[in-house]
Amino acid sequence: MIPKIIELPKIYDKRGNLSFFEHPNQLPFEIKRTYWIYDVPGGETRGSHAFKEQQEYIIALSGSFDVVIHNGKEEQRFSLNRSYYGLYIPKMFWRKLENFSTNSLALIVSDHTYNQDDYIRDFEEFKKLANEK
Ligand code: TYD
Repeated sequence: MIPKIIELPKIYDKRGNLSFFEHPNQLPFEIKRTYWIYDVPGGETRGSHAFKEQQEYIIALSGSFDVVIHNGKEEQRFSLNRSYYGLYIPKMFWRKLENFSTNSLALIVSDHTYNQDDYIRDFEEFKKLANEK
C-alpha cells in the first residue's frame, strides 16, 4: 500500500453540497478515532512522525495545507485544498503537515485509538526501520 488521494462522492445541491466516506466503500479501514487540527498559526508544522501500525486518512475540510510524505528514501508532497478528497496514508510513512492557510481545518481519521507507543518521532530511526523492510 502507498499513500494515495481518495476522492469522495460530492452530492451537488443548490442548498449546499455534501460529501461523505464510509468503510469499506471509500475508506480502506474501519475508523477507531477522529481528530482535527485547527487554529494553526502561519508557518507552523504539525505531524513530523510516522506510525508503526496506524493508518490515517486526512482531509482539508476547509482551507488548504500540504502533507509531505517520506517513505524512507524519497519525499512526496500532496496539496489538500478541497473537502471532497483526502490523502490515505498507510502505516510506516513519515508525514508532516505544513503551509496551513488561515482558518484551515484538517480532519484526520485513524484505524487505531491514540497510542503513544505507535509513534516513531525520530526521522533517522524511521529511515532505518523503513529501509530494513
Ligand atoms: P501529536 O501527535 O504530537 O500532534 P501532531 O498531529 O502534530 O503530530 O499530539 C499532540 C498532543 O495531543 C499530544 O500530547 C498527544 C495528544 N493527542 C491525544 O491525546 N489524542 C490524539 O488522538 C492525538 C492525535 C493527540
